[in-house]
Amino acid sequence: MSTNTTNTSTSSHQVVENAYFNSNPPPKALPQHVAAAESFIRQHAAANRRVVLVTSGGTTVPLEKQTVRFIDNFSAGTRGATSAEYFLESGYAVIFMHRQFSLLPYSRHYSHSTDCFLDFLHENPDGSVVANPTHQDKMLRVLRKYNAAKNQNCLLMIPFVTITDYLHELRAVAQLMRPLGPNGLLYLAAAVSDFFVPEDRMSEHKIQSTDATDLLKQQQGPTTITKEPREPEEETFDNFDSSPSVPRSKRLIVDLDPVPKFLKNLVDGWAPEGMIVSFKLETDPKILVHKAKYSLERYQHHLVIGNLLSTRKWEVVFVAPGHSDKWIRVPFSRRKKTLSGVEELVGAADRGAHEKNEPLDPSMLPEGEPEMEIESLIIPAVEELHSKHIESAAAKNTSKLA
Ligand code: PMT
Repeated sequence: MSTNTTNTSTSSHQVVENAYFNSNPPPKALPQHVAAAESFIRQHAAANRRVVLVTSGGTTVPLEKQTVRFIDNFSAGTRGATSAEYFLESGYAVIFMHRQFSLLPYSRHYSHSTDCFLDFLHENPDGSVVANPTHQDKMLRVLRKYNAAKNQNCLLMIPFVTITDYLHELRAVAQLMRPLGPNGLLYLAAAVSDFFVPEDRMSEHKIQSTDATDLLKQQQGPTTITKEPREPEEETFDNFDSSPSVPRSKRLIVDLDPVPKFLKNLVDGWAPEGMIVSFKLETDPKILVHKAKYSLERYQHHLVIGNLLSTRKWEVVFVAPGHSDKWIRVPFSRRKKTLSGVEELVGAADRGAHEKNEPLDPSMLPEGEPEMEIESLIIPAVEELHSKHIESAAAKNTSKLA
């Protein structure tokens, strides 16, 4: 598929994009994913249906080409998988670009160690397997929604593993979404690595932890991950040595490059008409809104949803151009009961902050997860902004024609 970006731009963003994508090869499955996404988008564009690309889960940073070790992050894909379900409920077709083996829409209800699907089933005397009576209602609801999404071909799954897989897949799918115009929505909930080991500096084989293969090392090319040269006086050092200071020759020093920020390329070139929603995750409440605003100014897209690691299932903040910051929170009535069991006391100490334009105090929140999924509030609010985005694009088109 031809794009403006490949034809015209010589901007620094384009130079960085070309350098990254030319030197870090795509995943083997990219052509199959592109073919599947192309026909999915064609079907839904013909039906004038809105299509959302949801990215979900964390990207890995491999330390070796034949990867034994990699750097990862905390994201389980809860935000992405849950959001995908609410988008489907709102009538969107969903391309779910997710970290392989992270949570998936619908099956997420039964895939965790805390909710192992086998615990929801039992064997009847006739040998048939059935859902436990207490879980049947919910299981039936989930199963029906899952089958509806499948039968109507409204959910396309695209897996990724590494940061480079993710970026190749994101660019390809975003570019394919261009025919959707403003009906396309990109909802970037994935936790994307900020640093990586470039292909040309990556060790081919497993990094060795002993000097057993030192003599063979001359045959290897330079790597970004180095063992410090051995000091002449250093003895061979075993891992079980109880010496308090580890010699430099035994340390693994990982030298990472920054991952180029491609949001500008996404906004300007890959999917210029679609609505783009990015997320901002922080751990320090004092900087969250500032960082979200900074991102919006820098990339000039449509919405940043800010969230804090400790409270991300309870509240998020919408930062959008031309709107005042809007906190979206699980209401008091839908939080879990306090230890005292008195419903009215749930979050009572925090009730003031709830009304304010500032983050909740995590110590005031009840243990565990909220009864209500915050995505059930986030998605209608995103949908409303998407409707405005579509209307304003239509108005611009009309005024161009006049
Ligand atoms: O999976 P969960 O446990 O439910 O957690 C959900 C979440 C906390 C991971 C999610 O809600 C979230 O906040 N995701 C974004 C994390 C983040 O801060 O990303 P960032 O600041 O590195 O990137 C900003 C945005 O650009 C993100 O939308 C990211 O998906 C996107 N990005 C970033 C870098 C890059 N090279 N490509 C991108 O697309």
